[in-house]
Amino acid sequence: MRKSLLEIEHLDPENISYLLTAGTKYRTGQLPVFDRPYTVASLFYENSTRTLISFELAAKRLGLAFINVDIAKSSTAKGETFQDTLATLHAMNIDGFILRHSDENLIKNAQTYVPSASIINAGSGMHAHPTQALADGLTLKENFHSFSDINVVIVGDVRHSRVANSLIALLKKLQVNRIVIAAPAYFLPKVPFEDVLIEPDLDKALQTAQVVYTLRVQKERFSEEERCPLDEYIKNYGLTLNRLKLAGSDPLLMHPGPVNRNIEIASDVLDQYPYNKILNQVQNGVYARMAVYEWLFSC
Ligand code: CP
Repeated sequence: MRKSLLEIEHLDPENISYLLTAGTKYRTGQLPVFDRPYTVASLFYENSTRTLISFELAAKRLGLAFINVDIAKSSTAKGETFQDTLATLHAMNIDGFILRHSDENLIKNAQTYVPSASIINAGSGMHAHPTQALADGLTLKENFHSFSDINVVIVGDVRHSRVANSLIALLKKLQVNRIVIAAPAYFLPKVPFEDVLIEPDLDKALQTAQVVYTLRVQKERFSEEERCPLDEYIKNYGLTLNRLKLAGSDPLLMHPGPVNRNIEIASDVLDQYPYNKILNQVQNGVYARMAVYEWLFSC
């Protein structure tokens, strides 16, 4: 069975340290050497801009061959199963599959169909998004001397967020000082996270935050009976310049993207707040994915 990246929870401290160190070194232009030319294929059954493109750029920068399977134009439309699509591509010597799917179990079980290929989770249902967490870890590493100094406030729709699950798993492994969720009851996780505080009052939570990590309101993942009173949400949890001015210590602003402008974050914050790190997260997304390829194929 080849090495895979399915969840942050599967990584030990040495793996995390390797990945963040490798990601950091790409900024200086260093590149790893592979023992042969590797080929990876992306299969995204859900839309993406940054994750898909950064996996492609990362592969090309490292000299890996990269194939994007356009699911809408693939034989999936003729009824080919996920299992048969993977096995078909693997027969063409694909070494790694980068998968995004709304069904987390398909990604969890993918390696049973292609045991000698690596599986990289690029977003599975509401469960996990490990490479987003690694991009975020690189962004924190770039901005702080020590993870143990950081208080992170995660704002908003944690309930439907695979990003939050992977981020919280990584923050715990990095042993940050404190993780706080600031969210209304309808966005809290159904099963509480251990060692994560809940503070429904965002302004109070921001008083001690070094990082405010805002999540997208993920309407597409609401069940039939779920509702978000959007005006009330924006009033209590939307980040405005005024709200950030009243915060204790100019927190860094992070968001996995795509942002719903004027819902999670006011447009003027996106355009003017000097500690907005959202595009740095995107840039680090390429380095993080380069690190993942190195970890999978050269270790
Ligand atoms: N953060 C993230 O996964 O963005 P995309 O959906 O654009 O890939």
